[in-house]
This record gives sequence, structure tokens and C-alpha cells, in this order.
Amino acid sequence: MRGYMVATWKMAWDGVKKGQEVLRAGGSVHQAIIEAVKMVEDDPEYHSVGYGGLPNYNGEVELDAAYMDGDTLGYGGIMGVKNLKNPIEVAFDLCHYKRNCLLAAAGAEEYARKKGYAFCDMLTEEAYLRYSRQTKQMDMEKLEAYGGHDTVCVIGKSGDTMACGVSTSGLFMKLPGRVGDSPVIGSGCYADSEVGAAAATGVGEDIMKGCLSFSVVEKLRQGVPVQQACETALREHMERLGRSGHRPGSISLIAMDREHNIGAATNKKAFPFVVGDLERNTVLYAAVNEGGKMSVICPDEAWIQAYQGD
Ligand code: GLY
Repeated sequence: MRGYMVATWKMAWDGVKKGQEVLRAGGSVHQAIIEAVKMVEDDPEYHSVGYGGLPNYNGEVELDAAYMDGDTLGYGGIMGVKNLKNPIEVAFDLCHYKRNCLLAAAGAEEYARKKGYAFCDMLTEEAYLRYSRQTKQMDMEKLEAYGGHDTVCVIGKSGDTMACGVSTSGLFMKLPGRVGDSPVIGSGCYADSEVGAAAATGVGEDIMKGCLSFSVVEKLRQGVPVQQACETALREHMERLGRSGHRPGSISLIAMDREHNIGAATNKKAFPFVVGDLERNTVLYAAVNEGGKMSVICPDEAWIQAYQGD
């Protein structure tokens, strides 16, 4: 697989298509990634990102996002932000600064308001209904990514520039103030135009223990092929967690190297991802894990129909 863009989950399909159009029209890779992420953030059908995202334990939608520019290693992120329409825009804004590039909660909201970013009520009626049906006596130690699919992660390359952006509402019923991997540099995403980029989706607490996005990019730096880099980083991390008696939740990875080669890995049975390929087509793939043996398939219509998630 080779492409200009790669993104997590089937829900990124329209966004990648839009991102490809932006690139075709001469837009920058940054514009392409931001447009792609915004399409998912704006769609209330997706319950793990932006508008329509599922709320925390108190019934409030708290959003995290990050952006990394692989040319400058500039990194911006926001965490625990409420009612911000497009968190990815603020993360991108912050990646241009050398200081104050990772902002949390009220400080991030204040910054976004001052810069004129749009705010709106991000809790949809449907998300509230799901919340009100959820038992409050749940075990916080067993929270899982909603249906296993949570963060939208988009990696892009144009010319020599590589970058990535991620956005999520985090775990459904998380404790207020809880932050996952997404806005944490090296865990949720990492991009270095000299080497490649990687991003992660799944249970943030488990991803952060392995700084998985950085781990994949470092393997690329050592010359490991991109598919092998994703699979090895995930397998080694799972083995390490296993040795400490920890059974991780869902974790999936995507990556792209400098030559546009794309890789993906998952500890779930199947992890769909979307590629904007070199012929400008948008193609759905899935990383499939059969008892630890990983492969990437191009799913047929029957597979897509049977797939339950976003
Ligand atoms: N991967 C997103 C989160 O755990 O919040």
C-alpha cells in the first residue's frame, strides 16, 4: 500500500476523500489533514470524536486533539476541552509555537475563544440518551474504547512534508479530567519528515505505556519496513505488558514512511483504515489479527456490510 494519506477507521472515508481533493487543488498537507479530521469531528454519527462524541461520567463531552508538523517537529495539543467545535484547528494553531503548545481544559478554551475559534454544544441528544442508559456503577478499571474505535488519526505527505493530526472525545464514561494518549506527543501521534509518521487509536492508558507512535517512527529510523515496524512495535509492547500481568484493551496503529509506504497493525480482530492512494483513489483496507498473525486485506462488500463499527 502506498499513498498520500492514511487515516484510522472507516469513519475517515469522506475526510480522506476531501483531503485528497485539497491536495489535488494545490492545498498543503496541513490543510488536507485538517479538512479530513474536521469532517469526522463535525459528523454526529461518530460517537468517539467531536460533535456527537460520548460524554464523561458527569455527562460532559471532553475533547482531546493534537497535531504534529514533521518538518519542524512543531507539536500542538489540547486536552479536556468542552464545547469547542473543531479541536483539531486549535491543535494545529498551537503547533506553530515553541512554548505553550500543549494546553488543558479552561486554559485551552480561553486560548481558543481569544483566537476566535467556534464553540457550540457538543452533546447531541443521541449521545445523552446513551449516557442516561449507562449504569453509573460501572468498573472504571475496565473502560474500553467505544466499540474499539475511538480516535480519528490522519497522516499525510505532500512533497517532502509529513504531518499528522488526531482528535477524540476519549473513553465513554471516563472520569472528568481524564486524558488519553491522543494529545500526548509520541503516544497518540508522531511525525518526522526525515523518517515517517505514525498514530495510534485505542485505549490511551495502554498506548501511553509504550509511547507507541514514537516507537514505530524510531523503528522506521532504524530502517525497518513500515508494516513490520507497526507489527513489531505492537507485538513487543503487548509482550512487555503481558510480562507484567497486564491485559491491554484495544490498540491499533497506522504509519507512513518517507516513500509513501503505509503500514497498520492491531490487537483487535479487525481494524479498518482508509488510504488516499497515489492514484488519488480512496481505498478501505483492514488490518486483521488472527491469533497474533497479522495481515492487511482489502475488504470486499460482504466484509464491509458485516463490519459493525464506524
Ligand atoms: N485513544 C483515545 C483515548 O484513550 O482517549
